[in-house]
Amino acid sequence: MNVHTVSTQPFSDQKPGTSGLRKQVPVFQQRHYLENFIQSIFNSLDDYRGKTLVLGGDGRYYNRTAIQTILKMAAANGVGRVLVGLGGILSTPAASCLIRKNQAFGGIILSASHNPGGPEGDFGVKFNTSNGGPAPEKVTSAIYEASKTIEGYQIIEASDIDLDTLSIVQLGETTVEVIDSVADYADLMQSLFDFDRIRDFMTSGKFRMSFDALHAVTGPYAKALLEDRLGAREGTVQNGIPLEDFGGGHPDPNLVYAHDLVELLFGDNAPDFGAASDGDGDRNMILGRNFFVTPSDSLAVLAANATLVPGYKDGLAGVARSMPTSAAVDRVAEKLGIDCYETPTGWKFFGNLLDVGKATLCGEESFGTGSNHVREKDGLWAVLFWLNILAVREQSVEDIVREHWKTYGRNYYSRHDYEAVDKDSATALMENLRSQLDSMPGQTFGNYEVKYADDFSYTDPVDGSVSKNQGVRIGFTDGSRIVFRLSGTGTQGATLRLYLESYEPDDASQHDTDTQTALADFIQIAEDVAQIRKHTGMDKPTVIT
Ligand code: G1P
Ligand code: ZN
Repeated sequence: MNVHTVSTQPFSDQKPGTSGLRKQVPVFQQRHYLENFIQSIFNSLDDYRGKTLVLGGDGRYYNRTAIQTILKMAAANGVGRVLVGLGGILSTPAASCLIRKNQAFGGIILSASHNPGGPEGDFGVKFNTSNGGPAPEKVTSAIYEASKTIEGYQIIEASDIDLDTLSIVQLGETTVEVIDSVADYADLMQSLFDFDRIRDFMTSGKFRMSFDALHAVTGPYAKALLEDRLGAREGTVQNGIPLEDFGGGHPDPNLVYAHDLVELLFGDNAPDFGAASDGDGDRNMILGRNFFVTPSDSLAVLAANATLVPGYKDGLAGVARSMPTSAAVDRVAEKLGIDCYETPTGWKFFGNLLDVGKATLCGEESFGTGSNHVREKDGLWAVLFWLNILAVREQSVEDIVREHWKTYGRNYYSRHDYEAVDKDSATALMENLRSQLDSMPGQTFGNYEVKYADDFSYTDPVDGSVSKNQGVRIGFTDGSRIVFRLSGTGTQGATLRLYLESYEPDDASQHDTDTQTALADFIQIAEDVAQIRKHTGMDKPTVIT
């Protein structure tokens, strides 16, 4: 085998963020940039030689090029076997499933999630560990440390392998298997949900749905599951062919970017159910006819109805949500008498809770929901969970959510993003907020009294690790909250996220207010305390979800 050690110099910007190393494509195209980061992953691990690695990505521009490089580096670094998705395609949850099923030491997932793709778009590299989940902070810090001192990387000289044929080939001492990207994942879904019942419902004539894959990775998965296994009519999956630039779109399933689906579901003769997923398949948006389900509510509804679904029929051990996610699921947990954990933003914080069985369902306000079936959030899993509930309850999405509010109350919720803000100004805004925290409790703003104000800090109940400075929270005595944090996934300047939540108890007559109207007082308080306009130079958010 022809192994080369190529000498290189460190890049100073290879610190993984909320979800791996994410940069614009031209950054990754710099000489040695990708190689340095991949070698830093191998250098930070001790026990991988001879073992299995899972490799694939969301199909965006640079996916195939990066895969060929990583295969040659994996071979040079002594990996025993690499499982690669056909065409280089693996959704993030499917990669997690494969890591677990094959006892791999980890996986490298190439994706910048919901960020746009193409030569001028974004690219990213995520490393997942043997439990199938995103590398925890101690691993990502070790990778970053390794990237700061790297002097060389190993690669073998070999020709590219054919990614478009199912095959088993040798690359030096390493076996490379090009595998079906969908089958194992689809089987896992079939083991959790009542496919017979969903199929009967889907073909009963009483139900119509549409799924928008946004030209990203879930197209082949959704086709196999919804159309082939569950009998949805052909054409149910829209934009189902993964494209390197996602057709020029922004593969983010929310009301702004999944506009075609939103128009369909809010138009005349709308289907009963609509859903979309993001670039790498871990996010989901759920719509009913003329009705949007907030991700926080979706998590709460899934938790409240879990026992209707075979995979969860014995109930939930506990639930977990990220700090900025609304407390809707907390109320379900309270009623069920199970624990509810509040973690920092980012799926990696759920890993330990899932591993030790403290939580069964997890979710984030950012259109992420999942369970202990894998160690990533999972877009299609959430869609199937909803379909299972709909098939059993035979009610509309809207009726199910309204009944839920009647029982548990409604958490009005919205997130306002200010994107591409100057980094220093965004830092100044956060510093200014932090300096006010001590004096806030007891202060009143209009009708609201501040109960607590802090910078969220999390102590992992399993390994005791502490994560500080995870977002500024201002909580009011009536249960309302305002949260501020800076994004850890953006690639241009800084993104300020403002999260707003207010609670309306179980009086159904109070459940019809427009969300932004219901939150208007808190939007104003946020402006007063943080001076967002002054610091960002913007008079309104760039995205409201
Ligand atoms: C965003 C979301 C977060 C999610 C992450 C990866 O991170 O807010 O919930 O886990 O993307 O999909 P952020 O940019 O806020 O750091
Ligand atoms: Zn994603």
